Amino acid sequence: MAIDIDPGLSPYLQGNFAPVHDELDVADLEVTGRIPDALTGAYLRNGANQAFAPLGRYHLFDGDGMIHALYLDEGRARYRNRFVESTGLQVERRAGRALFGGLSEFVFPDQAVIDEAGIMKNTANTNVIRHAGRILALMEGAPPTELSRELETRGEWTFDGRLEGSMTAHPKWDPATGELLFFGYSPFAPFLRFHVADAAGVLTRSVEIDLPRAVMMHDFVATEHHVVFFDLPAIFDLDAMMSGGTSISWQPQHGARIGVLPRDGAGDDVTWFEMDPFFVFHFLNGWDDGDTVVVDGCRAPRMPTAFGDEVLTDPTPPTLHRWTIDLAAGTVTETQLDDRFGDFPRINPHRSGLTNRYGYIATGLNGSDSPEFTGVVKYDLETGATDVHQYGAQVEAGEAVFAPDPDGTAEDDGWLLNLVFDRVTATSELRIVDARDMEGDPVARVHLPRRVPFGFHGNWMPDQGY
Ligand SMILES: [Fe+2]
Repeated sequence: MAIDIDPGLSPYLQGNFAPVHDELDVADLEVTGRIPDALTGAYLRNGANQAFAPLGRYHLFDGDGMIHALYLDEGRARYRNRFVESTGLQVERRAGRALFGGLSEFVFPDQAVIDEAGIMKNTANTNVIRHAGRILALMEGAPPTELSRELETRGEWTFDGRLEGSMTAHPKWDPATGELLFFGYSPFAPFLRFHVADAAGVLTRSVEIDLPRAVMMHDFVATEHHVVFFDLPAIFDLDAMMSGGTSISWQPQHGARIGVLPRDGAGDDVTWFEMDPFFVFHFLNGWDDGDTVVVDGCRAPRMPTAFGDEVLTDPTPPTLHRWTIDLAAGTVTETQLDDRFGDFPRINPHRSGLTNRYGYIATGLNGSDSPEFTGVVKYDLETGATDVHQYGAQVEAGEAVFAPDPDGTAEDDGWLLNLVFDRVTATSELRIVDARDMEGDPVARVHLPRRVPFGFHGNWMPDQGY
């Protein structure tokens, strides 16, 4: 039962990008193999799932947030999915139609809609994390949205009103202090703010950082002593967007910069390094080595997506690179670590900001403008060795999330969780792969009661532990 494709419709509204509209809760799912008992907790994954027919041209990043959850408990599995019931979506539900435009085609909502839900919808569609006991759905253009573990939307969470502006969908957890480090970017000055929430979830620090212009900054890096911002020429232009132009465009004439800020520094303590233009959506990790900061990430020669009329005729998908930033010498060395396509990088969260031996990166990118993957590469960054798990010839996968084995001691003691789609049977599964046995069969295939559309990011939230 393959899925039909409609050539007149956005590719991001059909096939396994097509949204699902029903909200299910199904327990005791069929499992092939055995879910490890140690995996007791919830795997939540977010993605764009447009509720109403879009008003204008649809971009993949525009859709309403929907969380797909797998609750695992001593070998049993339950599935549940819910829309993030954003204020904007609630207004649209009352109207029975879409009221907001998107990144590729802005639509000015009526004033009453703006008064209630803002000029753009906070879709909360990109990632879902847990910090200090709070589950937060994240979208980089807005504050977080708090959910219950059962995925009921509690509303926007602004850290008791302390958070000014937006919050990245890629905050960094510090395993030593329990802090959450993050940033927000804005089309209005200040274009960049850095924030720290302590282990109790209290926003304790906000620092404004000068940038010459507003840029789309999707991810950043936090080490034990530094945070690193990549100021790349994906220029965010709200005026152009509101007058019918392109919201985000690639402007390589502005070059690129890497900025390193001591974690306790002021906004003007950033050391900037000028670079030739390049683009990164996601970083694997970063760490300090004396006066040097080492950063690994998935580098593309340019922004590998288009928000306007531009057609990308020469796809240039990202590959794993390393930046070695020598603060004493004032130099940056850039090294390509692999020539395979790769993105959606993950590590053992206990190594976040510290040296990590292993990285897990989705591979098999099908074209440059689409997060469709067929496998995951395990990198041993000490030896340079790689192991690949391929999900199957007719199977497409998403981000592989590393869930540590609570009884393990080695960095790669754990499992990779991934929601995969079989395009021949049009069914979805949770695949659980032992990270110590990448080329082996999955230890468990959890058969889902419905097709789960491709999505973005998620996290493993164990009942015990971090
Ligand atoms: Fe992302």
